[in-house]
Amino acid sequence: MTKILKVDPINPEPEVLSEAVATLASGGLVAFPTETVYGLGADVFNSDAVSKVFKVKGRPADNPLIVHVDSLQMLDEVVEEVPDNVLHVLKRAWPGPLTVILRKKPTVPNVVTAGLPAVAVRCPAHPVALALIKGLGRPVAAPSANLSGKPSPTTAEHVINDLYGKVDVIIDGGDTFFGVESTVINVLTDPPTLLRPGPIGLEELTKLFGKDINVPQHIRGFSEAEVALSPGMKYRHYAPEKPLVLIELSDYGDLSKLVNEVLTVVNELTSSGFKVAVIGSDETLSYYTDAVKLSLGSRKNLYEVAKNLFKVLRNVDRLDVDVAVVEGFEEKGIGLAIMNRLRKAATRKLIKTY
Ligand code: TXA
Ligand code: MG
Repeated sequence: MTKILKVDPINPEPEVLSEAVATLASGGLVAFPTETVYGLGADVFNSDAVSKVFKVKGRPADNPLIVHVDSLQMLDEVVEEVPDNVLHVLKRAWPGPLTVILRKKPTVPNVVTAGLPAVAVRCPAHPVALALIKGLGRPVAAPSANLSGKPSPTTAEHVINDLYGKVDVIIDGGDTFFGVESTVINVLTDPPTLLRPGPIGLEELTKLFGKDINVPQHIRGFSEAEVALSPGMKYRHYAPEKPLVLIELSDYGDLSKLVNEVLTVVNELTSSGFKVAVIGSDETLSYYTDAVKLSLGSRKNLYEVAKNLFKVLRNVDRLDVDVAVVEGFEEKGIGLAIMNRLRKAATRKLIKTY
């Protein structure tokens, strides 16, 4: 049986937290909000509980989990050593949506890291997530709380749709703040290597580390990296069940070009007998007169677009359409994370270079 507990995301009620903590302490699974997406948590030192996380998500055993800590002190419980330059960055970036890869302590069960010698760790900046970890007094292993392959959950409703009946507790703390998963960076390489773009953009990472970051080409999401640098990267992710066509331009300065490209594809699909949805932006949506329309928000605020992204991708499957055509966005700041997710979700990408 799954218990759904409503909570005030900013001032979480102590009785809710203590029930969730007791569940984690006894080896149960708790879905909880973080500032990025909802996580599905288990006591990191309880291998059986961690194994259950893989099972209920249908997650391949070779895709390691992120370990969540409440402080730099707790980080020491899971990693061997933190180089000074990394400590310097974490002091400024935590709590927040930055996950670092470091060498794991032998006490961290192998199931957590899928047998790797390194572990991914972050300190979430969400009052509910932080209070849960503090209450348990131990780190919490937590992947995103979706079924494997589905878009990450940004509301409790998404978690309920995917995991109701399979987990012990779902804490409903409303919408998450960023809507895309944390930035993941491997700090064991010099320079550090970006493994997953997220809310902390490349520009910010470069400033934090004081050097250029290594960005493997597949990070932009183009190729299904067969040689997976981050083990999770090789699986199809974030995808709605309906096919998604992504329209990209090399420059979004002139939106009429984007609108024309979208309309061309929509007309082609429509004349082939398909029912089409367009996923656009506030600036362009009114041009798509005949299609079913969904907006991701304003192009002037990519944080808004990121926040709406997974909700909109999930909504595509509920519409009476055969296919969705989605506009691309500029790859600056959180835009790199948006485009990485869209390219992974898309079944077909059309790129126009002007
Ligand atoms: O924002 C987030 O990061 C959310 C919330 C719940 O914290 N969590 C999340 O976890 O997105 P998950 O499991 O869905 O994604 C974890 C990513 C995967 O791409 C995985 O391959 C990578 O982190 N990862 C985990 N451990 C790793 C390791 N030891 N080495 C390299 N990559 C690792
Ligand atoms: Mg995930």
